[in-house]
Order: sequence, then C-alpha cells, then structure tokens
Amino acid sequence: MPTALIIGASRGIGLELVRQYVVDGWRVIATARDDAGRDRIQALGAQCLRVDVANPISVSSFEWMLDGEKLDLALYVAGVIDHNAANTPPTKDAFDRVMHTNVMGAMMVIPQVAPMVEAADGVFACISSVMGSLQGTRSSDAALYRISKAALNMVVRTSQPEYPRLRMVAMHPGWVQTEMGGANATLTPEQAVTRMRQTLAHIKPEQAGQFLSYDGSTIAW
Ligand SMILES: NC(=O)c1ccc[n+]([C@@H]2O[C@H](COP(=O)([O-])OP(=O)(O)OC[C@H]3O[C@@H](n4cnc5c(N)ncnc54)[C@H](OP(=O)(O)O)[C@@H]3O)[C@@H](O)[C@H]2O)c1
Repeated sequence: MPTALIIGASRGIGLELVRQYVVDGWRVIATARDDAGRDRIQALGAQCLRVDVANPISVSSFEWMLDGEKLDLALYVAGVIDHNAANTPPTKDAFDRVMHTNVMGAMMVIPQVAPMVEAADGVFACISSVMGSLQGTRSSDAALYRISKAALNMVVRTSQPEYPRLRMVAMHPGWVQTEMGGANATLTPEQAVTRMRQTLAHIKPEQAGQFLSYDGSTIAW
C-alpha cells in the first residue's frame, strides 16, 4: 500500500487530496492546525499530525513525528494569500504570514521529509500557482502572494539537486473552488485533484525540478 503525506489538509485542495488518495487505497498521513481540521481528516480515514508550517517550533518536530516513514508521495499544500497590489506596501504581519507559510514552511519541511521520499524513490510536489510565474505575470494583483509563489518555485529548483533520487515539482492546481479560489473558480476541488493525481502518477525523471500545471503541461518560470 503506497503512503502519501499531505501537508496543509484541513480543507480545500488538501482535504480533497486526502479523500481521493484514501478512496484509491493509499495510506494517508495528513496535517492540520486545529481540532476541526483533524476531525475532517480522520473522518476520511487518514492519520492526522498537528503541524503549523509557519511556526518553526511546530514544524521542526516534523521529522520526529514521521519517525522513519517511507513516503511514495509528499505534497506541500499549505498556503495563504494576500490580495493587495504592488502599489500598497505590505504590513510586516502580512509579509510574515504569507512568506512564512508559503516559503519558510516549505524550506523547513523539505530537509526533514525529502529523505523519506527519496527512500521510496517518490515524488515531492509543492503546490505553487501560475500567479508565481515571472514570465506569465502581467498584473500586480496579490503581489505578495505572487512573490511568495515565485520564491517557492525557487525552493523547488534549489532543493531538487540535493535529492537526486526524488522527483520534485512545483505544481499549479488550476483555479479551484475553495476558500482561497472563490466560488467563481473554474474547477471543483474534485476535478482539480483528479487531474493533479493523474499528473503526479506519471512524473518522469526528466520532469524533476519542473513547474507543472495540474493537467501535466509545463508552465514557464
Ligand atoms: N484555490 C485556487 O484556485 C488555487 C490556485 C493556485 C494555487 N493554490 C494553492 O493551493 C494550495 C491550497 O489552497 P486552497 O485553495 O485549498 O486554499 P484554502 O482552502 O484556503 O486552504 C488552505 C490550506 O492551507 C492550510 N494552512 C494555511 N496556513 C497554514 C499553516 N501555517 N500551517 C499549516 N497549514 C496551513 C489551511 O489550514 P487551516 O484550516 O488551518 O487554515 C488549509 O488547509 C495553496 O498553497 C494555494 O496557494 C490554490
């Protein structure tokens, strides 16, 4: 039975990933920050760990909590958005919240978890966004979020060479109907996650370190 680790799974895309992998027969370990999230994860039949990726004390015990697991798949899904454009200076709180969650958390998780994924010759995907594409950016809407996802993409690029047996990708999940994506998004979580899972199941070694969309197409950095 393959094992998946889903980091940031209390709701939205992460929770749907938990649901679909459990239905598909995987053993799933997922993380939440509060009791309500834990209950939703456990109700789907997954094991839940309590991790706040923006809190270094919380996230630094992740390796210990996982205790030598071999992971076929790890997904860094946790993320937050700030909607201000580039003509509005970020508050320190907004900067810290977005950059700690979207970037620092990934940088703290990867060294702890990547060796467990390498042990299974597995895949590690960081859920990024097309809004982090430097080449694709024509707007300053949600500037801090865009900057954080561009930085997350560089986390993937810089981490991949350290873990040569790992296939590590940055993945855009599509525009998805979640609290972050809003009701007008084009994809339901079920649709997005179905395509993401198909793509993740077929990541080739030559795609390691790439920026992929949920449908498997390559996105320009
Ligand atoms: N929805 C879209 O259209 C879209 C498009 C492109 C990229 N994305 C990316 O996809 C990922 C999931 O987004 P979503 O749409 O599912 O958003 P969401 O519904 O707002 O869910 C965000 C998830 O991240 C978790 N999280 C936030 N801060 C965290 C922290 N400090 N520690 C641990 N977990 C934390 C939340 O947990 P709590 O319940 O504890 O807050 C929640 O499970 C994000 O990285 C987002 O940037 C989404």
